Amino acid sequence: MTTAPEICLHVCVTCRPPGGPEEKELRPGAMLHQALAAAIARDGAPSIRLEPVECLSVCKRPCTVAISAPGRWTYIYGDLDPKTSVDTIIEGLRRYAATADGLVPWRERPEIFRKGVVARIPPTKTSNAA
Ligand code: FES
Repeated sequence: MTTAPEICLHVCVTCRPPGGPEEKELRPGAMLHQALAAAIARDGAPSIRLEPVECLSVCKRPCTVAISAPGRWTYIYGDLDPKTSVDTIIEGLRRYAATADGLVPWRERPEIFRKGVVARIPPTKTSNAA
């Protein structure tokens, strides 16, 4: 039995710049999702669960993704390009995966993550209340 990777990459597939294509499959967000799926399928890529999502509420900064895992900080990034950002996103995922809590030191983050960070959300704590 295989288990699903615990690190999840949500990619907004409906992201597009103002005036961008209406057709969902032509939107830059959908293209970014496709490019990331191909990159994650390559040998040597970190084990990631890739999930398409329609809108992360960062519509003014296309393209957008969210990186999360149980017990780790969640990060939301914007301003990503489906043609030029894929390898850097994969490298950022590799660094995130190497941490216990999702906190990659600022200087070790890819530049597009440092400039494009929209939010970081702390891990949820489990309740001891019965
Ligand atoms: S359409 Fe992509 S964040 Fe809203």
